[in-house]
Amino acid sequence: MNRFFSVADIDDLDLVVKEALSIKADPYRWRELGKNKTLGLVFLNPSLRTRLSTQKAAMSLGMDVMVINMDKEGWALETRDGVIMNGTTVEHIREAAAVMGQYCDILGLRSFPSLKDKEADYTEELFNKFMKFCGVPVVSLESATRHPLQSLTDLITIMEHKTVAQPKVVLAWAPHVKALPQAVPNSFSEWMCAAQEQKLVDFTIVHPNGYELDKGFTKGAKIAYDLGDALKDADFVYVKNWSSYEDYGQVPSVKGDWLMTNEKLRMTNNAAVMHCLPVRRDLELSSEILDGPNSLVVKEAGNRVWAAQVVLKRMLENLK
Ligand code: CP
Repeated sequence: MNRFFSVADIDDLDLVVKEALSIKADPYRWRELGKNKTLGLVFLNPSLRTRLSTQKAAMSLGMDVMVINMDKEGWALETRDGVIMNGTTVEHIREAAAVMGQYCDILGLRSFPSLKDKEADYTEELFNKFMKFCGVPVVSLESATRHPLQSLTDLITIMEHKTVAQPKVVLAWAPHVKALPQAVPNSFSEWMCAAQEQKLVDFTIVHPNGYELDKGFTKGAKIAYDLGDALKDADFVYVKNWSSYEDYGQVPSVKGDWLMTNEKLRMTNNAAVMHCLPVRRDLELSSEILDGPNSLVVKEAGNRVWAAQVVLKRMLENLK
């Protein structure tokens, strides 16, 4: 593997989950694999889980890790081509990425969308330039349209906790006070659609009118608009807010009550509740669920390590 950007970079979902769980059972077995290899983690936006879990995964593989918070510590980056850099940007991504590639064997990049320019965001302009110019394998730490380490984690967590062969998984839109990216739901959807093709899950997305995701990510998913109907018989409920794709980055007004509570959970098959975190308590997800027996959110976050480690392991094996 020399890039990890979307579900298309994984051949066999069942196999990668089994490999991740075998790493979880024996995390330090591949400690020699990353010896004298350096991982660089480049953040253009904040992170807790992605930053720490990926560092831990790399250290368990014997790698050295360097982290740069480009938004605070780096030079202001220019990403456009053909501009005279006489404004606030100091360094072009062409040089910055290429230089980081000189120091690192593998690079990770986190870059959120603008939520203003749909075309630039959805063509992954910045991420593609970074991958092109750095010259080394790249793992996405979340891009404008996808969060594949989160989605692989979510698949691992569902496979680990499922009690039926093909559990019903519901991605449920939730309220928020801010306009959030579509990256997590897009990515979760494309991974669940791929898992559904392999009969690993049965997948439904439920959201209010105006919050339809880009159809490129939802092929094969059942789309619902009634939360109660969608929750019926669910085994896993994945709660997440996102802003509108159609009316890009906007937050159209919503009718009805979309906050997941224990009362709504009673409509499910005693579903486990997931969220990528961070989560705003009692706005996006109720405290009674987060503090209750159905919440998987902390175990899910714990599994971020094994998703990162299986990806880095495969990249290191490809370097040799
Ligand atoms: N879920 C997730 O990516 O968390 P962070 O933004 O804290 O890395």
